Amino acid sequence: MFEALKTLPQDPILQLMQTFREDTRPDKVDLGIGVYKDDAGKTPIMAAVHEAERHLLERETTKSYVGPAGSAGFNSAMAELIMGSDSPLIRDGRTSVVQTPGGCGALRMAAEFLRLCEPDTRVWVSTPTWANHLPLLGGAGLTIREYPYLNPETLQVDFAAMLETLEGAEAGDVVLLHGCCHNPSGADLSLEQWQEVTSLIQRKGLLPFVDMAYQGLGEGLNADAAGLRHLANAVPEMLIAASCSKNFGLYRERTGALALISATATINSAATSQLLSVIRSHYSMPPNHGAAIVETILGDQGMRAQWQDELNGMCERILYLRHAFAHALAPVGDFSFIAHQRGMFSFLGISPEQVNRLRKEHGVYMLESSRVNVAGLNDRVLPQVAAAIQDVMSK
Ligand code: LMR
Repeated sequence: MFEALKTLPQDPILQLMQTFREDTRPDKVDLGIGVYKDDAGKTPIMAAVHEAERHLLERETTKSYVGPAGSAGFNSAMAELIMGSDSPLIRDGRTSVVQTPGGCGALRMAAEFLRLCEPDTRVWVSTPTWANHLPLLGGAGLTIREYPYLNPETLQVDFAAMLETLEGAEAGDVVLLHGCCHNPSGADLSLEQWQEVTSLIQRKGLLPFVDMAYQGLGEGLNADAAGLRHLANAVPEMLIAASCSKNFGLYRERTGALALISATATINSAATSQLLSVIRSHYSMPPNHGAAIVETILGDQGMRAQWQDELNGMCERILYLRHAFAHALAPVGDFSFIAHQRGMFSFLGISPEQVNRLRKEHGVYMLESSRVNVAGLNDRVLPQVAAAIQDVMSK
């Protein structure tokens, strides 16, 4: 049965990560995969995470099953982190949160759940969007439609084109939005634009689905969730996929959450039972360790304060690097948009050929689309990267 199978190319982001690891040049620079790096170019374990792990090692009493929803403590802490601790959606029982294996697990379970609700569900995704959105959602059987999001010339949000296309969506269609730190462009909607999208979604009866993978890395935990919260408070139903990979640095622990908002508590309880059945038939239950870390941190005043400090430090460092990068590239052209965008990513707007030359001739790695992970920069490599970009853009 297997002999007819053809070898598939690796996912481009993961392939680039591997090529970088195999590159023996000591001065190589990784601006590829979306992983935060500190000044020394390392992806450290956050001190609050270390502390929580010590705590767990001493106090954990069982490795028995957690159940398809995961830990209730983690789920309620995540609900407050995403929606705000005073959210009426939590108070009124209109929201349930389940623990998932990473943000990817949340995206896929949401897609499977949507297909269960309506087998012909169409989901509108931004052009461009994170490449893995397409197999995660399409693989569950949803029909993918695209709405223009980024103007390729200006590398800014083309809001008019986005609205115009979404006007063509039909009641019941799903719209996938990036909560903050748009991946791959770094170009976010302003709060006013979130308000306009909310009105359109209400008017047309669309179902919003928000991917919140970078909360806390744009402008701060609450500021990054402002658009999402506005939307959530205005619509009867919504789905939110959240990830703890970046803001807790738990990448390999696969820690995420899926929030389901319904019109009433009664509807929510029935819908959640269906979602739990979907989960049971896929992976049965989520892994525990990462979620236990998050629950421990968010439930302890001291660890929580330490984590917020560290996260704020990461956020500020990215903002600093965005300004420093735009400044370092000023002799090459106007890259000031990098300073105004948010989160880990921005496009440089250079050709795939120039991207290849950066990798081959200068050891500077980025996605072929010219998406750079700004969080992979530091003061030491910045001049080298800027000079390399200048070199490939001048020839
Ligand atoms: C990225 O976009 O680089 C990250 O979200 C990592 C991944 O899994 O693709």
